[in-house]
Amino acid sequence: MENPWWHRAVVYQIYPRSFADADGDGMGDLRGIIDHLDHIAGLGVDVIWLSPIYRSPQDDNGYDISDYQDIDPVFGTLADFDELLAGVHERGMRLVMDLVVNHSSDEHPWFTESSSGTDNPKRDWYWWRPARDGMEPGTPGAEPNNWGSVFGGSAWEYDPATREYYLHLFSRKQPDLNWENPEVREAVYAMMTWWLDRGVDGFRMDVINFISKDPALPDGAVRAGSAYGDGGPSFIDGPRMHEFLREMHERVFAGRDKMLTVGEMPGVTVAEAVRYTDPARREVDMVFAFEHVDVDRGPDPWTLYPLQLTKLKGIFARWQAGLAEVGWNSLYWNNHDQPRVVSRFGDDSPQWRERSAKMLGAVLHLHRGTPYVYQGEELGMTNAPFASIADFRDIEALGHYAQAVDHEGRSPEDVLTVLRARGRDNARTPMQWDASPHAGFTTGTPWLAVNPNHTEINAAAAAKDPDSVYHFYRRLIELRHEDPVVVYGDFTMLLPDDERLYAFTRRHGDTELLVIGNFSGEPARAGIDDAGAWSSAELVLTNAPAPAGLELEPWQVVVYRRTLTR
Ligand code: GLC
Repeated sequence: MENPWWHRAVVYQIYPRSFADADGDGMGDLRGIIDHLDHIAGLGVDVIWLSPIYRSPQDDNGYDISDYQDIDPVFGTLADFDELLAGVHERGMRLVMDLVVNHSSDEHPWFTESSSGTDNPKRDWYWWRPARDGMEPGTPGAEPNNWGSVFGGSAWEYDPATREYYLHLFSRKQPDLNWENPEVREAVYAMMTWWLDRGVDGFRMDVINFISKDPALPDGAVRAGSAYGDGGPSFIDGPRMHEFLREMHERVFAGRDKMLTVGEMPGVTVAEAVRYTDPARREVDMVFAFEHVDVDRGPDPWTLYPLQLTKLKGIFARWQAGLAEVGWNSLYWNNHDQPRVVSRFGDDSPQWRERSAKMLGAVLHLHRGTPYVYQGEELGMTNAPFASIADFRDIEALGHYAQAVDHEGRSPEDVLTVLRARGRDNARTPMQWDASPHAGFTTGTPWLAVNPNHTEINAAAAAKDPDSVYHFYRRLIELRHEDPVVVYGDFTMLLPDDERLYAFTRRHGDTELLVIGNFSGEPARAGIDDAGAWSSAELVLTNAPAPAGLELEPWQVVVYRRTLTR
């Protein structure tokens, strides 16, 4: 079988609300994206993934959809969308949409009907359940089970009109769709087909491994200090998950080539990912796994745990090995749900920001898999200086704050410390286009404050500076397109126990790459076999003066290439 095009591709994610505002209402829009397509094309990426732009009450910034076949007026119209799609295609790129079908908005007509009465034909499109046996509906503790929602509070909302509860794994405005019902599945497949017929090139599937739930919905284990049980075991990679994806593939994607599908899958294991991405099974092309971005989480959600590099390397090594023969990895540090990587695993001080951002980019992009760049990552954008909880807009940050401070007795300072480091709004501050007052993002008042460091960190400055993070990312993407060793080379992790250096080789035919990144602010020498030979090999890429031997400067990355002689 011919290798799929997306093996060689790099994807750029746009969070439309924060990308570029053309009409001055403080929120990004499709016209803003159209105006900035050359910035993205200039990076050399192959695909754009758009976070949701569908009609939505915007409770979770568009991940709560009330009409899957229309554009939210905040973002524009279907005509704007068609123009954007044409602009993307003209530049030789593809466009992938976000598919949010674990849940809809509670304002979707499906849900309005479903909630209108227990005998409505769409009642069973969502997860309605009566109160716990022997309990009075609507009273404390009467919820059908003990699950907590991802955003804090119970996963059940009581509906006084029909005296039943509906399940919402996310906010109460995001009721979970019941995929057990074949009519739900048909409606989703028809909607997907409508977009593909319009010309889109695939989907990023939101929390797709949550769609199959154990219909018994049993109570989950309760973690110490928490008010709720963990329903995960009943809905992560649930009983009919693979069946549903195969059915979707058959009904929607079969016979269409050149598509890209990527499933966002919190909690997915390597073994499951192999099954999801085995081309012979026809489910999805790749998954977004979470282990590497959960590396600095620990037993207590309100404690910050420092990065342990050895642990991070262990995770990547397992995923690289696990999907080496069958399946395919996606590679990402950032998206709209993660803090900025340069602030998280690098050093965002003026001295080391650019250098550590480049090191992180190179280490990630030179793994085997399809890299994703999140808007602003190519500028080395940083976390934001949130002063108080009033500065946050994210429903998750606000929900967790309320649960932790108001119900679990946590100190507001502790909670804020963690939200400042980890909160999703860090990724959602407006894109920094230039040094002007709102960073060129809007002429109005931005919905979330622009990071004050945009006077230094912005796209206009980066484009002009040949040593910028932007041009370094451009070079990384070019390298993937030029050299098959980056795409197909076998992966071998070196120095697994080194606390500072991240080192690996890639090998394809007689070409071998060596990548070493220094994850510390101290110089470090790589004690690898063959160091002498490597240090005289071709230095393909670095972010600091060429090292003597394999002695790396703080946050330096080096990429060497050599040809093996037999
Ligand atoms: C995914 C999205 C996130 C959203 C959630 C619920 O994790 O990436 O932004 O809040 O699903 O749709």
